[in-house]
Amino acid sequence: MTDAVPAPSPSAPSDSALMALPKAELHLHIEGTLEPDLVFELAGRNGVPLPYASVEELAAQYDFADLQSFLDLYYATMDVLRTKDDFAELTRRYLARAAEQGVRHVELFFDPQAHVARGVRLDDVVDGIGAALDEAERDLGITSGIILCFLRDESVESAEQILSAGLTRTDRIIGVGLDSAEVGYPPALFEAVYRRAREAGLRVVAHAGEEGPAGYVRDALDLLGAERIDHGIRSVEDDALVQRLAAERIALTVCPLSNLRLRAVPVLADHPLHELDDAGVAVTINSDDPAYFGGYVGDNFIAVRDALGLTAERAARYARNSIEASFASDGRKAELLQELEAWRG
Ligand code: HPA
Ligand code: ZN
Repeated sequence: MTDAVPAPSPSAPSDSALMALPKAELHLHIEGTLEPDLVFELAGRNGVPLPYASVEELAAQYDFADLQSFLDLYYATMDVLRTKDDFAELTRRYLARAAEQGVRHVELFFDPQAHVARGVRLDDVVDGIGAALDEAERDLGITSGIILCFLRDESVESAEQILSAGLTRTDRIIGVGLDSAEVGYPPALFEAVYRRAREAGLRVVAHAGEEGPAGYVRDALDLLGAERIDHGIRSVEDDALVQRLAAERIALTVCPLSNLRLRAVPVLADHPLHELDDAGVAVTINSDDPAYFGGYVGDNFIAVRDALGLTAERAARYARNSIEASFASDGRKAELLQELEAWRG
C-alpha cells in the first residue's frame, strides 16, 4: 500500500493537457449529472417540494458511507426530472461540461425503471436525451449512444417489461446495462433478460465488482455475455480473473472518484487502476455520477495523476482503451485515434 504522494514528475501531463486529451466516456449515468443548482431550478419549474432550504444545504448531503447511501439520494433528487425538456436540459449541461473535459464520444446510461415508476413516459426520457445528443453532435462534434440500465434491485419481471419497452426505441438505444445496489443481486438473476437483449441485437455491459465480489465479474461475462465490465475493480482479488480480462481484452470502465466517494477504496493512492493496467487489462477512466462525486472525467484523470502518478504514455493508453472499447463505428474510432495521435505530438 502506498502512503506517500508520488513525487511530481516532470513528464506528468498538466491539468490542461489532461482536459484536452481526446477520450470516450463509457460509464456515465445521465441522472448522476444532476447538479444541485439544476435540482432547484427544475423543482421550481415543476412545483416539486424539496426537503432542503438551499442549494448549499443539498450539496452538503453529498457525503456517502457506501453505494446504498448514495443511491438513496440519487433516486430522491431525480424526482425533479419530469418532462422531455428536463431530460434535454440535463443532458445539454452534461455535454457542455464533457466537451470542456475532452470527451469526444459518450455512451451514457439511463435508468428508465426509476422514471416510468413515477409516471414519466419512456419516450419523453429517450427523446429528451436524444435531442440534446443530436445538438452535441452538430455543435460540439461529440458522438454518442444510449444504454438502458436495468435496476438489479427491482424484479426480473420489471426488467423484462422495460426491455420490451426499450426494444421499441432501438433507433436510440444501443445496449443494455445493469446498475443499482449490487450485493445480493447477482448477474445470474438477469441471464434470460440479457439473452433476449443480445438476440435483439443490443450491445451488453454490466456493473460488477464495485462492491460485489470478483465472482460477479466472472458471472457477468459467462452468464450475461457482458462485452465490458463497469467498475470491475474487485477483479484484483482474483489473479486468474485478471489474466482472463487481459487475455480476452475485456475493458473495465473504472471510476476513481466514485470509488473514493463511495468508499470502495479508502484513499485514492490505494486504487488498483494502474495495477490492473500493469497486468494488461484494458482499463478506462470515467466519471460515473460526476455531480455527486466531485468531478467530471478530466477531473478524474487529474485526481489519478495527483494520487497515483500518471505519465503521458499511460494517460494516452487509457484514452486509447476508451476509444477502442467503445461501440462507435470503426470509422469514428479511427478518427478519434488520429486525434489522440495529435495529442501525443
Ligand atoms: N453503481 C451502481 N448503480 C449506480 C451507480 C453506481 O455507481 N450510479 C448510478 N447507479
Ligand atoms: Zn455506475
